[in-house]
Amino acid sequence: MNVKMVREFWRMWGEEEPEKKGELPRHVAIIMDGNGRWAKQHKLSVSRGHRQGTEALREIIRHTDDLGIEALSLYAFSTENWRRPAEEVAALMQLILDFFASEIDELDEKNVRILILGDKEGLPEKQRETLLEAERRTGGNTGLRLNIAVNYGSRAEMVKAVREIAEEAREGKILPGDISEEMISEHLYTKGQPEVDLLIRTSGEMRLSNFLLYQNAYAEFVFPKVLWPDFTVEEYDRCLRAFGKRDRRYGGREESGT
Ligand code: FPP
Repeated sequence: MNVKMVREFWRMWGEEEPEKKGELPRHVAIIMDGNGRWAKQHKLSVSRGHRQGTEALREIIRHTDDLGIEALSLYAFSTENWRRPAEEVAALMQLILDFFASEIDELDEKNVRILILGDKEGLPEKQRETLLEAERRTGGNTGLRLNIAVNYGSRAEMVKAVREIAEEAREGKILPGDISEEMISEHLYTKGQPEVDLLIRTSGEMRLSNFLLYQNAYAEFVFPKVLWPDFTVEEYDRCLRAFGKRDRRYGGREESGT
């Protein structure tokens, strides 16, 4: 993390960087909740709410990149979201296509590396191809790691990891005793990335909803009340400042610094 950038961030908000803390997270995860309620408030269709949510998304990605944060994970579509009305599912699928069509050039130009978390095989062909192409095109980029969870479930991700490890054991490449926390991390979609430091869920709901359960083990949680389409860069900065003031002890004591 760029020290100058961190100091600048606090100064911009007229606050001194809190001593010992004040760091920006390396990895932010966001559950973008409240599109439906926003639509209801504005007497619009749920699909229109999701569309408005995509607008918020663009700004948040830009700001994350500007701040020099290493990784951003966004929960766009869970394995449970297929249960929603067909019209809403279709609207979300269309939004995925529209989002990449309009954003991919800028993201690539900004050196953003896109990774899709989730089972792409379970998606309609157009969406699968679009997501694969985004990953292929930006695969060599070295800037912000932008993880977009589509058809994602954390338990399914863990089952996949366990199956891969079991297969290695069956082939005699590893022994059960070789299995470590790191090995499990290396079999998750987010392999090679830092763990989540800050999890944000908008709309006041306080649940993980099967999102990055392993990666969130020591994350700080912030639950702003604002609905996702109303989540501005200012709101985001408020969450980042809240994170910067937290004591993170990872089960240790503050004095020991562990
Ligand atoms: C939760 O709000 C939000 C979702 C299920 C979808 C989030 C998707 C987007 C913001 C846009 C699509 C993403 C990309 C990458 C193009 P909700 O509908 O559950 O809200 P509610 O709880 O108020 O009904």
